[in-house]
Amino acid sequence: MAKQAIKVENLVKHFGKGDSLVRVIEGANFQVDKGELVALIAPSGAGKTTLLMMIGCVEEPTSGKIYLGDELVYDNRWLTKEQRKIRREKIGFIFQAHYLIPFLNVIENVTLVPQTNGVPQKEAEAFAMELLDYFDIADKAHNMSSELSGGQNQRVAIARALANKPQIILADEPTAALDSERSVSVVKMLKKIAMDQDVAIIMVTHDEDMLPFCDRILKIENKKVVSHDVPKNKDVI
Ligand SMILES: Nc1ncnc2c1ncn2[C@@H]1O[C@H](COP(=O)(O)OP(=O)(O)O)[C@@H](O)[C@H]1O
Ligand SMILES: [Mg+2]
Repeated sequence: MAKQAIKVENLVKHFGKGDSLVRVIEGANFQVDKGELVALIAPSGAGKTTLLMMIGCVEEPTSGKIYLGDELVYDNRWLTKEQRKIRREKIGFIFQAHYLIPFLNVIENVTLVPQTNGVPQKEAEAFAMELLDYFDIADKAHNMSSELSGGQNQRVAIARALANKPQIILADEPTAALDSERSVSVVKMLKKIAMDQDVAIIMVTHDEDMLPFCDRILKIENKKVVSHDVPKNKDVI
């Protein structure tokens, strides 16, 4: 089986046109392999979220190619009308805010997508309990999100992102709302998921303290994506 989980070729993204044209990405080329936890860093407004949303089949690129696993999903146009299906089956999203549905309890939040994908309720619940257990939060399975702390909700959000057994996790500043101790615990968890389940994870972060836990850094520089090694001395970056 190929190692590649995400591959991007000559990816371009512009917003608007004429006088209001914004050139965000101008020919990005990079690959992320299964089992890798990669940090995506760049100044605010450089296009980190836009890049994740293109890989996640949410935002349409201007041109280029995107492969998810071995499947070419975008080649100057979406190659299927079913981006939503690709998204549901291959990708887990984690955001800064947990976006749990407030009127569903924890386990209902975690089983929502698998059930939408046709997984029988019992099977979805059993796997959700495994995930909640893994994140040490199984005792909260029947609580509402409002009854959980920020760190607990973020762990539920990560469990939810894993519930459809994605090959790829896209995390947009998942630790931005957490204190440093909880941030480290979330990033270590992501690293463990990448290794144990052979998932490719791209994590946007502004927190340099998180970089040593990642395998590699992708940086948006001059509207392109450049790969860097993780600094041994965190003052380097
Ligand atoms: N829907 C949109 N329409 C027009 N411009 C957008 C849109 N979304 C993002 N942009 C612009 O694209 C650039 C990159 O935004 P974004 O990906 O959110 O950056 P980051 O996540 O790195 O802060 C910014 O200049 C932003 O204003
Ligand atoms: Mg952003």
